[in-house]
Amino acid sequence: MGLRKADKKNPVAAFTLCLLLGATTGLASQAQHASPHAARPLSSQKLVARMTLEEKIGQLVLLPAVVQGKEVTLSQDQRELVREGKAGAILNLVGAEATDQVQAIAIRESRLGIPLVFAADVIQGRNTIFPIPLALAASWNPSLVREVARRAAEEAWASGVRWTFSPMLDVSRDPRWGRMAEGPGEDPYLASRLARAWVEGFQGKGLGQPGTLASCPKHFVAYGAAEGGRDYNSVEVSDHLLWEVYLPPFLEAIRAGAPSIMAAFVSLNGIPAVANQKLLRDLLRKQLGFQGVIVSDWGALGELTIHGVAKDRVEAAFKALRAGIDMDMSSEIYLRNLGSAVRAKRELEALLEEAVLRVLEFKRRLHLWEHPFTQPLPPPSASWTKLDRELARKAATQTFVLLKNEGGVLPLSPTIRRIALVGPLFDNSETPLGPWRTRQPQSGAVTLLEALQEELGDRGEILTAGWPWGQPTQRDKAKVLACARQADVVLLSIGELVHMDGESASRATLGLPAGQEELVELVASVHKPAVAILFNGRALALPELVNQVPALLEVWFPGVESGHAICDVLLGKESPSGRLPVSFPRSVGQLPVYYNHRRTGRPPGQMFTSRYIDSPVDPLFPFGYGLTYTQFQYGACQSTPRSFHRREKIRVGAWIQNVGKRPGEEVVQLYVRALSGELARPIRELKGFQRIYLLPGQRQWVEFSLQAEDLGYWDPEGVFRVEPGIYQVWISPNSQEGIPGTIELLEG
Ligand code: BGC
Repeated sequence: MGLRKADKKNPVAAFTLCLLLGATTGLASQAQHASPHAARPLSSQKLVARMTLEEKIGQLVLLPAVVQGKEVTLSQDQRELVREGKAGAILNLVGAEATDQVQAIAIRESRLGIPLVFAADVIQGRNTIFPIPLALAASWNPSLVREVARRAAEEAWASGVRWTFSPMLDVSRDPRWGRMAEGPGEDPYLASRLARAWVEGFQGKGLGQPGTLASCPKHFVAYGAAEGGRDYNSVEVSDHLLWEVYLPPFLEAIRAGAPSIMAAFVSLNGIPAVANQKLLRDLLRKQLGFQGVIVSDWGALGELTIHGVAKDRVEAAFKALRAGIDMDMSSEIYLRNLGSAVRAKRELEALLEEAVLRVLEFKRRLHLWEHPFTQPLPPPSASWTKLDRELARKAATQTFVLLKNEGGVLPLSPTIRRIALVGPLFDNSETPLGPWRTRQPQSGAVTLLEALQEELGDRGEILTAGWPWGQPTQRDKAKVLACARQADVVLLSIGELVHMDGESASRATLGLPAGQEELVELVASVHKPAVAILFNGRALALPELVNQVPALLEVWFPGVESGHAICDVLLGKESPSGRLPVSFPRSVGQLPVYYNHRRTGRPPGQMFTSRYIDSPVDPLFPFGYGLTYTQFQYGACQSTPRSFHRREKIRVGAWIQNVGKRPGEEVVQLYVRALSGELARPIRELKGFQRIYLLPGQRQWVEFSLQAEDLGYWDPEGVFRVEPGIYQVWISPNSQEGIPGTIELLEG
């Protein structure tokens, strides 16, 4: 049996060393705009030595810009705080002019001229809005995610942003939680691969380089397990689950070089994350070896009194600093109360200085002294918009998941002339943008109606019948029926309105909203070929819909190129190639439904087994599921050799053949299962995936390399264990299908 500690290094020593090494570099060359104060090549430590208590605290203050009329700006009071050196970072102030103006105050008018860092939530892009993160997870394509993050970083960088509160790495098994839309889905392996891609995409060639953003993985940790799927609710997870499910993406993001992490506002096992010393100092810093800045989530310090773990705001400041929160986002607890806390408890001074050093070092790594102001990006920045729109369109098509396609309704036959667009969403330009578009300046999405009109010109006829979010009238219903009757095919645009997903948007039901079941029934009664196009930001429970329509295309919230991308897939210019990053349940009563559960001593079967008497236990659509316009056949899973020792590798492969009539992309998935061990292991765990493209009739040998570590697991103490024994291995199209092969990891 092998053991591997997450990180044995002493992070504090490493951190200090890193400061000393970097000490003489960052401030040496100053931008032409820099203040005379900042021009001195001071090390972070010397800078700290010159700071007053208020200035030190100031570096830990993250001020949110305020909305004034149509503008997002800093108030006069906030500008004064910047002038007094009482702010270290600004959130949500965007635009070259606005950020440069405020930066000038920090650089030229504050006593020490320390630059500010401008932060924003670049979740779906900045100007160009890409598909929501859950949709990007459905692409199972880390290169695509890397590319999207890179382009989003360039757009944001040009408008002054240097730090993004992204990626959101909260694995979630509960689709009632609206923030599933912002995250990577239910699986820690997929989430980890995407975590690395996001971080690498944002940070490009290195922090501080033009066009890059510092990433801030969030929300540490297990926020996705909020009880009952209710946002902000308490989280209770075992240490074991923490290590197995919720920590891996963060660990991977740290390894990929994330320089900051956001602590969640929820409590974990009774202690709010921002006051949780064990979580932040022991686990995140010591065990995971994270040395960067820890920032609180919005207002989280202010909530400590509400949670009931601080008697007043001074105690909240004390507990947060003691726990390891370096920066306080927007609560002003540090700004107004940390001074009193430090004066009352002198031992806090050392912690305060450590936090300030970390923030200064972060700014140094971003080259803020050298380049405090915005700069235009070199060419080809001029062609951004076009390139980004192309990428947004391509990205969206890869995120769509074809859930059903009975009788080959899709792609639509070129002979179709009359298309009925029905439902509430075919001409909606807001919803396809997804929940994070509200804080970003950009245009609406291309609607399905617009794109189809563009595409068909006078070669076809489009009939439309909307559907209200309120009570449908007899007229609404009659129009739907008339439209459907006249058409060759009916495209039903249904699903959730954008405000039903994202923060503070938990749902207790997971069916179609706003009477859309009735709409589906009306269309089904006409017996025309029908395609349901589903907009949503979470897994939904839609067994009736699946029974009533021959074809179902999950498009999530596809971003600004929504209509074009949907048309590309409906008309067969592109094949749908997304796969579900979350299991779709049959009902809310089944929750949680996730593929990597344990087997139990009594797997579902007849009486006295782990089952429901009124529902199957398996999901409606499993994790990893998705069809395309062709079919793939999987050969048997073979391994060479069949048994291996630690430090050896094994190759596992299978022949995959395109047995359909069209070219297509397949996401080939590798799963493993330990048949015995100290801990009961999940019935399957994803360990690899590859996207392949095959022409009709073409076949390809798809191979994965496995090593002992891929079969290991984190135990409840955070020790990585690899146990010898027999393992099942699947190479399959999703988490439910396939015939396993077996491999053996030998002793020693
Ligand atoms: C969210 C964070 C976000 C922050 C700043 C909070 O409400 O939980 O994800 O980064 O606001 O906008």
